[in-house]
Amino acid sequence: MSVEQSENEHLKSKFDRLTEQLMHSEKLASLGQLAAGVAHEINNPIGYVASNLGSLKEYIDSLIKLIREGSVQLPADQVTALKKKYDFDYIVQDLPQLLVQSEAGLQRVIEIIGDLKDFSYLEEAEFIEADLHSGIRSTLNIIANELKYKAELKLNFADLPRIQCIPSQINQVLLNLLMNAAQAIKGHGVITVTTGYDEHWVWFSVADTGAGIPAEKIEEIYQPFYTTKPKGQGTGLGLVLSRSIVDKHTGVLEVTSELGVGSCFTVKLPRN
Ligand SMILES: Nc1ncnc2c1ncn2[C@@H]1O[C@H](COP(=O)(O)OP(=O)(O)O)[C@@H](O)[C@H]1O
Ligand SMILES: [Mg+2]
Repeated sequence: MSVEQSENEHLKSKFDRLTEQLMHSEKLASLGQLAAGVAHEINNPIGYVASNLGSLKEYIDSLIKLIREGSVQLPADQVTALKKKYDFDYIVQDLPQLLVQSEAGLQRVIEIIGDLKDFSYLEEAEFIEADLHSGIRSTLNIIANELKYKAELKLNFADLPRIQCIPSQINQVLLNLLMNAAQAIKGHGVITVTTGYDEHWVWFSVADTGAGIPAEKIEEIYQPFYTTKPKGQGTGLGLVLSRSIVDKHTGVLEVTSELGVGSCFTVKLPRN
């Protein structure tokens, strides 16, 4: 291959890579907008369904009592026949389960909506010049109490230069990473938050001594709704949101992980 040809090849693959990155962030931005819009729309109906379900439980209780007390007035064989005809015993037994399941399902929807709504903040906030450490400290303050049962927290802070960022969103990313780190730890472990910089980047990382991520899953963890956690603990949206925040900062979110040893997530933000 001539020098010119190889130069062309090089440019072409660079172009392909940039196109791919652009499409990726476009996709995330529209996903974010869609998610925030859907969450907003669903929020209201979900609210009254949840509240109606509460009333429904009380009403059903009253109705069942009414039927039981009223049926005392009727001849016993007629009561038996009527109950059979309308499957009364089965309904009375099944109803509480149905209600409990519906409430649990609804609770799940409410959790997911809550996470999706975070996407709507993505468009709002402004970039300002900020000291990353003050955000990191306040985020750690919020979560330290919960973390202390799962892990010892170690801090390795460098003397960081100030950067342009949206501090509330960066705090959100850190919070997600810390929650994931804590949730990955079985029993008690260590979470290490490290900060540093070079000529291009200011970065922070969250390392844990948790379960680790299997190599074949490492790409999947950024997929919307990918979660390995039981219901009530995970929605599979934390890393999607974190990544779109980091993308918006034209930064990089990186992960290294070893099964049974732990994981380390690094957020690199550009210095200018
Ligand atoms: N620190 C970590 N250690 C091990 N696995 C992780 C870690 N962070 C993320 N994961 C994996 O990535 C998945 C997706 O994470 P995330 O998007 O935050 O969603 P969620 O925490 O709601 O499951 C998690 O369910 C988990 O399997
Ligand atoms: Mg998470």
